[in-house]
Amino acid sequence: MKENQAGDYFVVKAKENGVSVIGMTRGRDTRFHHSEKLDKGEVMLAQFTESTSAVKIRGKAEVMTPFGKMDTEEE
Ligand code: TRP
Repeated sequence: MKENQAGDYFVVKAKENGVSVIGMTRGRDTRFHHSEKLDKGEVMLAQFTESTSAVKIRGKAEVMTPFGKMDTEEE
């Protein structure tokens, strides 16, 4: 994936304070490279990029991807 090429987008909507959206590196090593904290109601739109191949979400959130919509946890 080239840097200027758009990868898939996803949307995370925090359902509580302190939700983390953690970017994991692309390539041989899979490690954390960015952690973004969202408070309740905050929405983050992000893409998979040349640097980011996976994303881990901690906390209660709604996640929308090209595969559909899901919640990280049920009440
Ligand atoms: N600098 C990161 C990148 O270009 C920014 C980023 C993109 C990111 N998508 C993300 C960070 C998803 C966390 C989660 O890859």
